[in-house]
Amino acid sequence: MKLYKLIVIILALPLLLVILFSCEKETLEPYEFAGDVSYSSDIIPIFESKCIGCHAGNREPNLITGEAYESLRSGNYLTPADESALLFSGMTADDHPVKPSEEEKQKILKWIKDGAPEN
Ligand code: HEC
Repeated sequence: MKLYKLIVIILALPLLLVILFSCEKETLEPYEFAGDVSYSSDIIPIFESKCIGCHAGNREPNLITGEAYESLRSGNYLTPADESALLFSGMTADDHPVKPSEEEKQKILKWIKDGAPEN
């Protein structure tokens, strides 16, 4: 009987570790982006391909190239430097009509966390 319990514990342990590991990985994923993000080569292309169809000066924030940075700064869309910044929370809100891809979200969040430089 004792040996039986020991075997059950030994078999269950790796399973538990696998479950714990996969949970942890899932919650961390949206906040990870490996590499540097640049405003001009990573963020502007997202605005141009995914956003300016609706945010072209008629709806806040204005994301037109050349005007977006000033509009995001003056409208306080880039602070605090985390996922609660309005640029990120607004575009990922449940009632927002467009769902950016995982990679787009990661890039924009990384840029916000870096302090949103105009680089
Ligand atoms: C199909 C049209 C459409 C597209 C494309 C679109 N949006 Fe929006 N967006 C809206 C509408 C409508 C609202 C206001 C309704 C709401 O709050 O969900 C909004 C609201 C927002 C807000 C919150 C504004 C505020 O002041 O509260 C942000 C930030 C935002 N969008 C960012 C983006 C970004 C970034 C993209 C590109 C990845 C994008 N949107 C693409 C229609 C769009």
